[in-house]
Amino acid sequence: MDTSLPLSAVLRWHVDVGVDETIGDAPIDRYQPAKPALTPSAPVPPVLASMPATAASSAHLAQACTTIDQLRVAVEGYDGCALKTFASRTVFADGMPTARVMIVGEAPGEDEDRQGKPFVGVSGRLLDRMLASVGLTRATNTYISNVVFWRPPGNRKPTAEEVAQCLPFVQRHIELIDPAVLVLVGGASATALLANAQGITRLRGKWFDYETPGLSRPVPTMATFHPAYLLRSPQQKRLAWRDLIAVKERLDAAH
Ligand code: URA
Repeated sequence: MDTSLPLSAVLRWHVDVGVDETIGDAPIDRYQPAKPALTPSAPVPPVLASMPATAASSAHLAQACTTIDQLRVAVEGYDGCALKTFASRTVFADGMPTARVMIVGEAPGEDEDRQGKPFVGVSGRLLDRMLASVGLTRATNTYISNVVFWRPPGNRKPTAEEVAQCLPFVQRHIELIDPAVLVLVGGASATALLANAQGITRLRGKWFDYETPGLSRPVPTMATFHPAYLLRSPQQKRLAWRDLIAVKERLDAAH
């Protein structure tokens, strides 16, 4: 290794290749109470402000939010997911909160971590082109988020535990957007939100009903391939195209 590199660059390199734990000289007492899950850094809903931080699980925090802005603040202040430690930014969402279609992807990558917006890298550009081909754009009629809000180190897949920590926020996110159609992009998103362990090849192209207690009705939900996978396997683009046409037809029919 080049020993002239500043220490911060060496540390950044370790984070980028996926190191998320160091072993130090001093022992850590894991039996000590966990650090508070909520660090209010911006105005929070009154019910959250009065809640003891140690009791504030993502489920409590999410349920207390009645607007997208409150949810954004709650997610940004949440310290219960270790991914946040290594990320530069919280990547909450992009697009129109009034949209009738909501896209949920897997996890922010390097570009998203830098810009604080989902799907702004190479795969995001492909996703934008695919959506535009059926008349969907984030500037006008589409809302986009992910199943975790922070970039996993080294762009690894988020673990089941990390997804579970973020899931109550994601579920509340969907309830508050209340889309006419939900599109799950990639296996991680489909597995988490459909609670179905089948692979994306089996799940894609079919309609599912997504239901949570905070929704007034089940939301028709379609899983499809992740654009990063389509970049590696372009022959599958025609199936993703078919899925998006079905989404568009469903949206038009529900109007
Ligand atoms: N891949 C995702 O699943 N989400 C992003 O935001 C970027 C890449």
